[in-house]
Amino acid sequence: MAPFFILDQVSYCYPGSLTTGVCQVNLVLEPGTFLGVLGANGSGKSTLARLCCGLLKPTTGQVLVDGYSTANEEELRYIYRQVGMVFQQPDNQFVAATVEREIAFGVENRTLSSEVIRQTVGLGLSYFGLETLRNADPHSLSGGEKRLLSLADVWVLKPKLILVDEPLAMLDPGAKQRITRFWQDLRDQGQSMIWFTHGLAEVLSADLVLVMENGRAVWTGPPGELLAMPEQARAWGITLPPATEAADRLGVKEPVVTNEDELVSVLWK
Ligand SMILES: Nc1ncnc2c1ncn2[C@@H]1O[C@H](COP(=O)(O)OP(=O)(O)OP(=O)(O)O)[C@@H](O)[C@H]1O
Ligand SMILES: [Mg+2]
Repeated sequence: MAPFFILDQVSYCYPGSLTTGVCQVNLVLEPGTFLGVLGANGSGKSTLARLCCGLLKPTTGQVLVDGYSTANEEELRYIYRQVGMVFQQPDNQFVAATVEREIAFGVENRTLSSEVIRQTVGLGLSYFGLETLRNADPHSLSGGEKRLLSLADVWVLKPKLILVDEPLAMLDPGAKQRITRFWQDLRDQGQSMIWFTHGLAEVLSADLVLVMENGRAVWTGPPGELLAMPEQARAWGITLPPATEAADRLGVKEPVVTNEDELVSVLWK
């Protein structure tokens, strides 16, 4: 399938800032791809995410979605329908007085059918376990609940590409499981996702990982390859899965360990 999402030599400088937010990043995504973007604090992940969804316009280079450019105001409307963004700070996203109204907001912009709106909102509430909070004020939710609501907001709109910025921050194991199921379902439906984080464990099943350092894309490859180079990954400010970290400290170089079960079986040999 033809790539539908292209970053062509994309750079961005924040006005008045001396440091470059993002510097000459190239990327080509085919439909149904799961890309992990990894990097330390301040490496440019959130800036890149905002460029990918059209919220920031590249200072140089271009971001193309189905051939439409985010630099062109008339084409942005189309791009906003194809690319959904889940922000690192969920509060930035909320516009309505209740959880239910919040999920309905985007759907109402797409359809006039009250039955479709009701069904879609119901689906979003149950999929993310938010039914009991349907009448709550989004701003009064806990950090993890806000995160789930911001995912529901975007999920119900079924964009071709979902961008999630540090999605597991503040989530308990149950909520994390929901998110894991969420992206597996996305994949099954041929939707694409870019997941921005500093934790390699979160993107182990990604098709590809891109590492950011000081605004630049410094490495691209499958996540398994990054696991096998723990020292370099640490130097880039990437958090390794705890079991990989433990195996490395114990001097276990092979096989590469990704979880506790693998670590136990290696140590018992
Ligand atoms: N609004 C802004 N104005 C000026 N500089 C900014 C702004 N937002 C970010 N930056 C700078 O751009 C660089 C990249 O920041 P960004 O937020 O993209 O990093 P990040 O990888 O998402 O970090 P974190 O892991 O902490 O979320 C940093 O040097 C940061 O200080
Ligand atoms: Mg960030």
